[in-house]
Amino acid sequence: MTTKTGTIVNTVEMFQEAQKGKYAIPAFNVHNLETIQVVIETAAELSSPVILAGTPGTISYAGGDYLVSIVETAAKKYNIPISLHLDHFETFDEIKKYIDMGVKSCMIDASHHPFEENIQVVKEVVDYARKYGVSVEAELGRLGGVEDDLVVDEKDEKFTSPLQALEFIERTNIDSLAVAIGTAHGLYVGEPKIDFERLEEIHNIVDIPLVLHGASDVPNEYVKRTIELGICKVNIATDLKIPFSNAVKEYFRQNPDANDPRKYMTPGKIAMKEVVVEKIHMCGSNGKA
Ligand code: 13P
Repeated sequence: MTTKTGTIVNTVEMFQEAQKGKYAIPAFNVHNLETIQVVIETAAELSSPVILAGTPGTISYAGGDYLVSIVETAAKKYNIPISLHLDHFETFDEIKKYIDMGVKSCMIDASHHPFEENIQVVKEVVDYARKYGVSVEAELGRLGGVEDDLVVDEKDEKFTSPLQALEFIERTNIDSLAVAIGTAHGLYVGEPKIDFERLEEIHNIVDIPLVLHGASDVPNEYVKRTIELGICKVNIATDLKIPFSNAVKEYFRQNPDANDPRKYMTPGKIAMKEVVVEKIHMCGSNGKA
């Protein structure tokens, strides 16, 4: 597909290629320069298109302007399509602010609202995003678990209805849909129970790319099966954070007087890289840039 883009891209072309080739684009949650470096350098080595995702908490922590600059720099440097994505943003104003800074992909998560209100909130974002070539993901149904400051109790989880999904897409004109089919943000208590039949039903009547949230701690074969059934974007956060921080903790255990970030961050980056390699292979996006 596209080789050197030289700039941050939206996800439209990435997803078209992924749908044709029956693979998925990995979306890795990043938090700082180090995690961005690991994701982009690894994706470039494996020639994979990649999405870097930031939750509202992350983007305000790192600074949208800093993140855009870092990712723009990477896009000039590497021959792979790179998108910077707003993950689980809940308001138009916040999304507008970062689109104005140069972000080209966003998720408006109004899934906590009733159906009609969800549509209204999403439509406002789509109308604005279209003018700037920004792709928009929205969620229907409600995923459980914990993603940064977003905490959804199991009792509030709600699976996506296939027929509602069709209506939702027609009325909002979104580019991709996050589906709730049994995955949850964070770690699982026991095996995740994924409703593959529901996913298949949605995929049979909906033609836009589908997004799997909460892919950490889900067996690779399950994720691969969801990709066969129409998932085009796989979101991964927790599976990166745990090995990164464990390796840094271990470094401090062995070197209690360490104080050089270049030294204590490095084992974290190495541990995270291994997972990024594995997830890119799981998505089948290696060699697709
Ligand atoms: P995990 O932390 O479960 O990987 O979820 C990531 C996610 O879905 C980000 O939106």
